[in-house]
Amino acid sequence: MRRIALFLTLGLFSILSFGQVIEPMRITHGPWLQNLTPHSVTVMFTTSSAAVPGVRLPLQAGAEPTLIRNSTDGMIHAGGTLHRVVINGLKPGKVYRYRAEAAEILKFRPYQVYYGDTVRTKELEFRTPVPGSESVNFLVVNDIHTNGAKLGNHLRQSGAANQDLVFFNGDMIDVFEKEEQWLGPIIDTSVRYFASKIPFVMIRGNHETRGILSRNLKDYLHFPEDRYYFAFDQGPVHFVVLDCGEDKPDDNRHYYGLADYDRYRLEQVEWLKQHINTDTYRKAHYRVFLIHMPVHPGDGAWHGMNFLYEHFAPVIRDAEPDLMISGHTHRHTLLNPKLSGLNCPLLINSNDNRVEVQVDRNQMDIKVLTGSNELILEEVLKPRK
Ligand SMILES: [Fe+2]
Repeated sequence: MRRIALFLTLGLFSILSFGQVIEPMRITHGPWLQNLTPHSVTVMFTTSSAAVPGVRLPLQAGAEPTLIRNSTDGMIHAGGTLHRVVINGLKPGKVYRYRAEAAEILKFRPYQVYYGDTVRTKELEFRTPVPGSESVNFLVVNDIHTNGAKLGNHLRQSGAANQDLVFFNGDMIDVFEKEEQWLGPIIDTSVRYFASKIPFVMIRGNHETRGILSRNLKDYLHFPEDRYYFAFDQGPVHFVVLDCGEDKPDDNRHYYGLADYDRYRLEQVEWLKQHINTDTYRKAHYRVFLIHMPVHPGDGAWHGMNFLYEHFAPVIRDAEPDLMISGHTHRHTLLNPKLSGLNCPLLINSNDNRVEVQVDRNQMDIKVLTGSNELILEEVLKPRK
């Protein structure tokens, strides 16, 4: 009897041990696209264990897929579970079929690397944009506050995969303390509806600055110059993305001496002053600015919004944008150029609505829709030039 009990115990132990050892590596989140340009794209994904990431796609029409891996300082990126693969050398206006893949690393010692299985996603595709193309369609959602169901509803109703771009205009999460707060409701939901095919542009809100992982948020994204504020062209639109910072003064007790946003915002003002004098900016057909907190001293303004209005508004008035889009106040508001004080319309999108914009060279058609797909605003803007 004791022998049988010992046998069963050992058997159970072996199954459990065996089960742990052979659990295969999986791609756990993604892939999601970032920074899609006419000549490059960034593919991001995570794996359940350490791996060497890559993306396989044909760089020439009809060619065999090439495995793209990135390296820094002579070392192929390897050993992590959050992966970013930058692909250069693409051609504008082409559809690329790709698979993300990862080779599992079982042992990573100085003279001994053991590989496990290689896993791949199904075949996916993206299309590179064409510089100076006649049109662009984009979607804006904001203040989702970690509610993946709410985000999914907007993405489904808007047909997000048929947009050219999706902007997440801040406060997509409440706080960032655990990876799952970002990867579950935001990344998984985005991947389900669009993000393996078209990129999203993350605009940081004040809530994304809260929690220990807020300092790592950029690891899950990829920006043109590794900054949260930047500009880029798509279709006839020149987009300017700004980073609002926190809403309360830097010395507020809730920040425990760890906030330095006023200095950071002034750094952006200097960048913006230079940027609006570039040829790219001045010759743009339309200019659309996006920032999470409105540059406006009105509804719900605390220190952050007042600071933005004091320092950014004079530069924005000179910049003469066609449109500015914000969120943060959780209230739908459209201010005309006079009431905004910005010399351009200011659309503040609520936490329950989304903004869908179709742009061609003749006009910008702006729609605001509720979560139940009710159209609450339709506005047509002509280029101001
Ligand atoms: Fe906010």
